Amino acid sequence: MTTNQDSWGTRVGLILAMAGNAVGLGNFLRFPVQAVQNGGGAFIIPYLVCFLLMGIPLLWVEWSMGRLGGSRGHHSTPFIMETMDKRRFWKYLGVFGIFTNIVVAAYYCYIESWTMSWVYHTIVGTFDGKTQTEVAGFFAHYVDLDTSTTGIPYEPVVFYILCLALNTYILSKGLSGGIEKVAKIGMPLLIIFGVFLAYKGITLTAGEDGAVFDGTLGLNFLWEPQFDSLTNLNVWLAAAGQIFFTLSVGMGTVHCYAAYVKKKDDIALNAMTAGWTNEFVEVLLGASILIPISVGYLGIEKVVELTSSGGLGLGFKTMPYLFEQWGDVIGTMAGIAFFGLLFFAGITSSLAMGSPWIGFMKDEFKLSQFSASWSFGLVVLALGMPTVFLFNYGVFDEYDYWVGTVALVVFALTEIILFSWVFGLDKGWKEITSGADMRVPRIYRYIIKWVTPIMLIVVFLGSLITPQGGDWAASFYSLIEGNGWIFSDQAIIAKLQNQDIYASLDLAINTGNTEQITFLKDKLGFVNGSRLFLLVIYLLICGIVYKAYSNRKKEGRRI
Ligand code: ALA
Repeated sequence: MTTNQDSWGTRVGLILAMAGNAVGLGNFLRFPVQAVQNGGGAFIIPYLVCFLLMGIPLLWVEWSMGRLGGSRGHHSTPFIMETMDKRRFWKYLGVFGIFTNIVVAAYYCYIESWTMSWVYHTIVGTFDGKTQTEVAGFFAHYVDLDTSTTGIPYEPVVFYILCLALNTYILSKGLSGGIEKVAKIGMPLLIIFGVFLAYKGITLTAGEDGAVFDGTLGLNFLWEPQFDSLTNLNVWLAAAGQIFFTLSVGMGTVHCYAAYVKKKDDIALNAMTAGWTNEFVEVLLGASILIPISVGYLGIEKVVELTSSGGLGLGFKTMPYLFEQWGDVIGTMAGIAFFGLLFFAGITSSLAMGSPWIGFMKDEFKLSQFSASWSFGLVVLALGMPTVFLFNYGVFDEYDYWVGTVALVVFALTEIILFSWVFGLDKGWKEITSGADMRVPRIYRYIIKWVTPIMLIVVFLGSLITPQGGDWAASFYSLIEGNGWIFSDQAIIAKLQNQDIYASLDLAINTGNTEQITFLKDKLGFVNGSRLFLLVIYLLICGIVYKAYSNRKKEGRRI
């Protein structure tokens, strides 16, 4: 028998671990691309509004739920939620706080494993002398598992397993012996690498090292406000999505880390410190690397084209080629710094994703830290293999969309309703302010009770029916004229109907492209299959939670 008595070693360690949980690949690959795609400088306005009205309130809510649950011996959301209201269904909604983490960890560790591999390839000189098209081709072969040219058979699988084993090993060392140590090393290193790269990006001058434009052109492009985007609800949805992902709210990780905070310790200031550190890294460093460097070499048009497929394209298919332009030594250093930075950003987040599962297994089934950690490793391996082997068939994207995006909003909405309306804001406010080392502005009482839930409902409904091109008026007219709503491919309803795949399939059929027809039909099967698979996983975790609940009842242990 073991008890789940792990705790944080120091306050600095806790804050660095929480900041590390938030600072991740999203800060460096996702944020700049979202900003470019959603109105440049104007994006920062909805982004900051979402941070102040959804991000900060959710951080306080999650930290306080976590500390409250921890004081009753719960370190994951199923029973943390049931602690706050005795109705039984809460624990099954709380399953999101375990499910989301293991699923996101599965595909997130895959990207993290690319960063390890790209550091390795930078060191051994794989990218030396390659054109940008060749570097992009390397990526395409890599994710296609055709790594015959790199010399390591099944390289993506090898690096994935290595990366997951490393995560699992660190997790098996516990909070202060593993996670906290990595955060104390990883976070400062990441900032040093980031400052070096941002300096190189911003001071990039046209005519030097083959740059065609100044790096500042990229910064201006990124920050040039396009105010008309402010009235576009889709931009607001994108800003909200970025806030959720970057702060890791609506996931269950914050609750888990906070569950190891002592009952009398502050959470209000800790939450703010970790949250604002994330914003500092995202807005200052995240924006000053990828875009300025790539615009400096490729120009705005090309960068817009490359970012249309998300940040992964620019980061992995383009940056190694651009660093090459800085010569052997600085180029190699920059490659190591960039992919090293991504690795540290990634691992401090994926470690957090492992904690709720481990906390649950230790609390409920009395597993040791070691067994709970390795059970996490195995589960994530099983969940992750489809993303590795079926990457090109869209399985990775399905995980990211349904779990890394939609589930965060659904769970955030659920927990804020529980906190503000069921548990009650009076009690909730006491939880937030007890032991606080700062004065929490009273206006947040109203924000947490009204503004955040209403915004979350709007975000959810908006995501359900997002219209094509963000043109709500055109969709309304179309509806009134009896032609139906025109969904964007990204709307939840359109996703459920596989609108994008069917559109490509129609095109392939019209052009008689048999190869593409076969591919798209297979893709449909894998996409639907992966959704079913995720649903089954959710239900399985509900089953495990039910078993834990029955055990408690049998043993007469209270929740
Ligand atoms: N918060 C983590 C990130 O930004 C998940 O990548």
